[in-house]
Amino acid sequence: MKTEIFAVSNQKGGVGKTTTTVNLATALSTLNKKILIIDLDPQGNATVSFGQKRVMGKLSSYGVITGQGQAQEAIVATMVPNLYLLPASQELLGVDLELAGVQNPQFYLKKSLEQLIDFDYIFIDCPPAVGMLTLNALVAATQVIIPIQCEYLALEGVADLMKTINRIKQNFNPQLNIQGVVLTMYDARFNLAKSIQNDVRSFFGDLVFKTIIPRNVRIPEAPSHGKPVMLYDFKSIGAQSYIHLAAELLQRQQGENHG
Ligand SMILES: Nc1ncnc2c1ncn2[C@@H]1O[C@H](COP(=O)(O)OP(=O)(O)OP(=O)(O)O)[C@@H](O)[C@H]1O
Ligand SMILES: [Mg+2]
Repeated sequence: MKTEIFAVSNQKGGVGKTTTTVNLATALSTLNKKILIIDLDPQGNATVSFGQKRVMGKLSSYGVITGQGQAQEAIVATMVPNLYLLPASQELLGVDLELAGVQNPQFYLKKSLEQLIDFDYIFIDCPPAVGMLTLNALVAATQVIIPIQCEYLALEGVADLMKTINRIKQNFNPQLNIQGVVLTMYDARFNLAKSIQNDVRSFFGDLVFKTIIPRNVRIPEAPSHGKPVMLYDFKSIGAQSYIHLAAELLQRQQGENHG
């Protein structure tokens, strides 16, 4: 099986990119898949979610994307079996400037991942911006997962993201596919959440996963304990909904590989 690379992306901040990356990857790793998370956000939230510290220099996603370090050397194990992490560095903040002068800067991440063949899935947690980091993620990826928060202005910026994805498809990465849209932080008590769900489903159609991630307090609690929510509170609705999402993702994957 070739490595499937998911960029988890939405330039809007705080919509559940990191939460989806961490928990979807954890859920899949329990199904005997070998998985890598690349934390490509200078905030380093995915790194911290596993109780790891952001690192500096070549042993980080920054080092790898700028060509100073090798991915194999920078990858660390997490407490989850089968799940590995390429930690972030705050230095990622400088990547837009550092890569500004080089030739074909959008291919740096893709090139640095080419030797990594022993993972089934790679997840890239993107920052909330459409700069050089997100561009590199979308060029390296085979699939995009778009989390959308079920709140006011949910679709804001999504048209821009679709334009960006199409432009990258045409110019740099023809195989790029949208794997799906995940509705996050859904609160069934609010009519607004329902009407947003309808809006998103009529905009994206079948691309929207049937599984909805509800608002659940266990989800924001888990990272402060340095754990994915499945390890923090397996029975919580938050953990269970990410397990459902992982099953649905695998189903889509099988459909695509056979179809
Ligand atoms: N289903 C949920 N229920 C409750 N809180 C949630 C849920 N999903 C995410 N959160 C919380 O919402 C906040 C934003 O989520 P997250 O960090 O995953 O978004 P993000 O898109 O990665 O943000 P950024 O754009 O800053 O990288 C976090 O505090 C997270 O713990
Ligand atoms: Mg994030």
